[in-house]
Amino acid sequence: MAYTVPKLKDHSAKALDKASDNLLAALEKESKAVKNEEEWKIFRDRWMARKNGVLTQINDLWLKAAPVEAKPVFGQKVNWLKKHVEGMVEVTNKRLLFAQLPAKHVKSKKKIKVETIDLDAFARDLKHGLIASQSLDITLPGIRRPLGSEHPVIKTIHEIVSVFRNLGYSVQEGPVIETDYYNFEALNFPPNHPARDTQDTLFIACQESKPQRERLLLRTHTSPVQIRTMENMKPPVRIVIPGKVHRNDPPDASHSPMFHQVEGLAVDTNITFCDLKGTLDHAMKALFGSSVKTSFRPSFFPFTEPSAEMMVSCFICGGSGKRGAEPCRPCKQTGWIEILGCGMVDPNVYGFVDYDPKKVSGFAFGMGADRIAILKYGVDDIQLFFNGDVRFLEQFG
Ligand code: DAH
Repeated sequence: MAYTVPKLKDHSAKALDKASDNLLAALEKESKAVKNEEEWKIFRDRWMARKNGVLTQINDLWLKAAPVEAKPVFGQKVNWLKKHVEGMVEVTNKRLLFAQLPAKHVKSKKKIKVETIDLDAFARDLKHGLIASQSLDITLPGIRRPLGSEHPVIKTIHEIVSVFRNLGYSVQEGPVIETDYYNFEALNFPPNHPARDTQDTLFIACQESKPQRERLLLRTHTSPVQIRTMENMKPPVRIVIPGKVHRNDPPDASHSPMFHQVEGLAVDTNITFCDLKGTLDHAMKALFGSSVKTSFRPSFFPFTEPSAEMMVSCFICGGSGKRGAEPCRPCKQTGWIEILGCGMVDPNVYGFVDYDPKKVSGFAFGMGADRIAILKYGVDDIQLFFNGDVRFLEQFG
């Protein structure tokens, strides 16, 4: 007689054990009787169907009907039975699949232990038609699973970061959705200061009811992490900050509304502009080859004073501005490539993070990682990095 789930009158643990032993015995018997896929489906539904399957029934007739004090024990047992039944249904299916191994293997099949075959993979491939259920041609080439490779921008970021790690810098990260305070105000961009206009900002909508400093935006540079780090770390500080930034720039060959920067900050006693120059000169030689030269031009950033733009002698034409008879395009024939912005941390910034500008000094710098990747790999369109075309990306493997 087919097993039916009994109602339990006695809600003791002993009665429950007995009932579940009966259930398990029935489960095993029915599993053994399954001969083919159709029977397996019936078996599966009989035990697992949401509507009126055995598992649903024990939930209703045993667990729900149990008095409150017995619920914890019943709950545990019913859960355990659930797992057991699900496992058994799966094992039964695997047994059938195993039985489908091609006839030519039948002789040795007895010797093959079930554990030596990856039955999960076998079942998957069978389902996807990668193995015909009746014959398995082991001479067919295997399924090639292509190796992934690091994205060129990420690879460039790793290279830059590792140059600074070797100098003893640690890595910090911060949120991409930032407040006005960290992105601008604490970096000495006062509200309505025209320097804000140099960074076309993407603001999060519906923030007008908040005070300006709390309003959210997509960070336009990685510099806010300088503030976040100094808030939490006493000097000396030596950090690099890789990350994504956004600006409201329409996409073209050299612009993308999303791009990447690597920022740096060193604050300690007696740090001078010479330290900045020496550190960055070393870093550029490590990145682009020992023969490159660096050159600094005055510039302006609200959070550094003095500020500079750093140029690197063109590592493509060697600084000559020419490639044979042709003009060198990456350096626009000048022999120099602008690589980053930098400067000595403005004392006003220390005021926002409780550092004493009389005791400490420091330098900061920020560079565009995508631009450096473009130069390093001779890519002529930044969009290629973000279109997700595997044919382009796999060239960097
Ligand atoms: N945050 C600047 C930008 O995105 C780049 C920069 C300039 C970063 C000077 C710095 C710095 O840390 O000192 O345009």
